[in-house]
Amino acid sequence: MTARKSFNARLRTATPPIVGGLVASTLLITACRTQSEYASIGTLTPTVAVGSRGYELYQNNCAACHGPAGRGDGMFAFVLNTRPRDFWNEPFRYVSTLDGIATKEDVIQSIQHGRINGEMPGGQWLTGDDLSVLADFVIELNRLGWEERLREEFAAEGLSEEEIQEISLERVTTEQPAQTPVPSPSFAADLARGRDLYAQSCASCHGLSGRGDGLDVPRDEQGRAIAVRDLANEPIRGGDSPEELFNRIRSGIPGTPMPGQPLMAPDDVWQLVHYTRYIMGRPISSSPDALLTPSTDR
Ligand code: HEC
Ligand code: HEC
Repeated sequence: MTARKSFNARLRTATPPIVGGLVASTLLITACRTQSEYASIGTLTPTVAVGSRGYELYQNNCAACHGPAGRGDGMFAFVLNTRPRDFWNEPFRYVSTLDGIATKEDVIQSIQHGRINGEMPGGQWLTGDDLSVLADFVIELNRLGWEERLREEFAAEGLSEEEIQEISLERVTTEQPAQTPVPSPSFAADLARGRDLYAQSCASCHGLSGRGDGLDVPRDEQGRAIAVRDLANEPIRGGDSPEELFNRIRSGIPGTPMPGQPLMAPDDVWQLVHYTRYIMGRPISSSPDALLTPSTDR
């Protein structure tokens, strides 16, 4: 095992040892904090206001992990292997657009299907309307996060309240339609081509074997070390259907060092999808139709 590899393994298995005591004490802290934390948010917009439908749904289904105010610090956050998203300060990662901004549909997908083998449970019990309200709720928290940062960072420049509102709204509104990934009719999967593209664009982080043992030691947007995914052995969090993989590879993963490939020809992205599935040990048949058949295992 290389040093890089064992570092990655440590990152992945870092779970606090005294889980029971931790849960009990965070329960207490969280309970005491809820009200004051909301008070500190300031004037809340109707979408996230205390007592709104989104607020109720969020507190009942999501706050235990994502925190009462959505800052990624719920009582269970500390016992999960993966940190729940801090909606204020982190971008959504599983996007289908090239500007890295999630569409509402992208966010609904995450809430409905859950992420990473159950660390975020899927909300299959939620109705379409609940999903829509919850998506608006977390997108609004994301926008409020931009407001907060803009106020802090540009206070001196005298940015007006109107400008702050306008810019923060732009930051959560995608300019781009979601991609409609379809391989061209002449597409034929070609492992050699996929391997070449992979060696050029992916191996520096994921390693030639795909086991996350490349030479780069990347950091996330907040400067924290981030484990590169072992594509051969670890779950694909944003979904492993060919279409989801296409979006992940083309759009990249915002907030992490994983770059997008906006300039790559879509058919080459499909070659990478094919090659990634090959690394995962689940090659797909090479016809364009088969590439678009949704996968059932998530
Ligand atoms: C058991 C803990 C848990 C619960 C409950 C939970 N989540 Fe999550 N959630 C997570 C974790 C962990 C992640 C990070 C997943 C990752 O990085 O792949 C996450 C990520 C997300 C994301 C980010 C998706 C993206 O594109 O980056 C959204 C949106 C989200 N959760 C919304 C919700 C909503 C809404 C609810 C309530 C219906 C909810 N979550 C309930 C643990 C949870
Ligand atoms: C600069 C380093 C870097 C490069 C280059 C890179 N990745 Fe990644 N990749 C990462 C990191 C870090 C993660 C884990 C992100 C996270 O934890 O959310 C990741 C995650 C992934 C995932 C899992 C996504 C999910 O939904 O969980 C896939 C698939 C992937 N990369 C494929 C690729 C492919 C294909 C390429 C080349 C086109 C590539 N990566 C290039 C760093 C990189």
